[in-house]
Amino acid sequence: MMIRSEDLDFRELNSADEQQALDAHQELLADDFHFLFWTSKGESWDEYTYRMLSWRRGEHLPEGWVRSGFFVAVDHGHIVGRVSVRYELNESLGHVGGHIGYGVLPEARRQGVAAALCRFGLQELAAAGVDRALITCNADNEGSKATIIACGGVLDAQLPTVRNAEGVEELRFWVPTGRAS
Ligand SMILES: CC(C)(COP(=O)(O)OP(=O)(O)OC[C@H]1O[C@@H](n2cnc3c(N)ncnc32)[C@H](O)[C@@H]1OP(=O)(O)O)[C@@H](O)C(=O)NCCC(=O)NCCS
Repeated sequence: MMIRSEDLDFRELNSADEQQALDAHQELLADDFHFLFWTSKGESWDEYTYRMLSWRRGEHLPEGWVRSGFFVAVDHGHIVGRVSVRYELNESLGHVGGHIGYGVLPEARRQGVAAALCRFGLQELAAAGVDRALITCNADNEGSKATIIACGGVLDAQLPTVRNAEGVEELRFWVPTGRAS
């Protein structure tokens, strides 16, 4: 599958995405990556997608959670990746996690999809008034590291690396969102 990043659509999840999104979730588990945040048993797909839309509006957020959006990249009808955008940071995200998290389906990798997802996330943040995004990745995740750098990321001067909850070293980058100042 050849992907041209200019052909990608970025949009929120909808009712018709259930099977593709669940398949993507299953595939990305091999990388220890959760494509979906659909953990609660007993929640229908439509309830889940509604929950994601609500979170983007800042509604029905769990205690201590920040407003966030969830978008998929779609290539000719196929979901090839996702980006989650946190429009603000809390203490935990300000340490590890940051504003943006993305994942790309294995067969769609090395074609610029992650960089396109990251740029879309940066635009979302710029539109929400955020000037610079914190993006963190495992120190040994070469693909994610290169993606962040390709999007203009610079290591945090004060705290370039931290240990996450599992004790794994994470790199902390700041990326300008391009918001006109
Ligand atoms: C990391 C990941 C998102 C990269 O996705 P991708 O679509 O292949 O990345 P892109 O094609 O947009 O590449 C962006 C940059 O990263 C580089 N890159 C991508 N994968 C790479 C790898 N495995 N090793 C080294 N560089 C890599 C590309 O060459 C490109 O750099 P360039 O602009 O200097 O040429 C993807 O491998 C993935 O989903 N992994 C599992 C989930 C994950 O790790 N998510 C990130 C959590 S922080």
